[in-house]
Amino acid sequence: MLCTPPQPLRSSRRPLRTAPRCSNDAQPSPSTAAAGGVRRLVLSPEGRAKLDPRPDRDFYAFPRLVTHVDDGFIATLTDLYRDRLRAGWDVLDLMSSWVSHLPPEVQFQRVVGHGLNAQELARNPRLDYFFVKDLNRDQQLELEDGTFDAVLCTVSVQYLQSPEKVFAEIFRVLKPGGVCIVSFSNRMFYEKAVSAWRDGTAYSRVQLVTQYFQCVEGFTQPEVIRKLPSAGGSSPSSPLDAVMRLFGVAGSDPFYAVISYRNFKPM
Ligand SMILES: C[S@@+](CC[C@H](N)C(=O)[O-])C[C@H]1O[C@@H](n2cnc3c(N)ncnc32)[C@H](O)[C@@H]1O
Repeated sequence: MLCTPPQPLRSSRRPLRTAPRCSNDAQPSPSTAAAGGVRRLVLSPEGRAKLDPRPDRDFYAFPRLVTHVDDGFIATLTDLYRDRLRAGWDVLDLMSSWVSHLPPEVQFQRVVGHGLNAQELARNPRLDYFFVKDLNRDQQLELEDGTFDAVLCTVSVQYLQSPEKVFAEIFRVLKPGGVCIVSFSNRMFYEKAVSAWRDGTAYSRVQLVTQYFQCVEGFTQPEVIRKLPSAGGSSPSSPLDAVMRLFGVAGSDPFYAVISYRNFKPM
């Protein structure tokens, strides 16, 4: 297997990893998987298929400096991060872009970003380093074992065609007790989402992410957080939202997060 070197395009206070690690082939071994091993595959070959089979890097070749969810979703996510993340932590923002939605008042030890478009990542003010990698071609993260307190994946998990291997890598790079927060809504680049997601429901998508954690030996029982728009419930997130609601055109984006910890949830 070819291991590519890290691409620390920002400052290099610390190398992202000291030596290539090529051992995680993540072959499922149902009864004997060691911690971090893949117990079973979640997706069928059909479930991994996308309507647009072209390389994902082509799709992300130009920067999209937009937000992919509305202000209400982002406020809920930032509050969740406020609740679950701590100052001084090492954080990995997987499948990131020009925004990480982290609480602005919290200073982390380091935030490493990963994505598919270097221009987007270079614009992200929260990142200390970033690297570009297509996780549908190679799931190996060029990062050292057990070095992150938190791994975040925001509105992107639907694009992973080998989620089992990627979640095994998330497990590997987390410290024991480290947390992974996967958040999503009902929006997507339809032609780039895997069919198991595209053809699913809100319920089945939560189940899918839950299973991505459960298929890796050693993740804690996933916790699900939902915040759904209710008629007349939450207050409008912006003047535009208020006007659109007035005309019955829009509510806010539903919020889902699935959270799990490596080995144990610290008290
Ligand atoms: C909808 S954007 C979300 C970006 C960011 N997390 C946010 O909250 O705005 C989807 C992101 O998924 C990532 N992505 C999509 N396909 C990918 C792939 N094959 N490999 C790695 N990352 C991918 C890209 O970084 C892309 O920016």
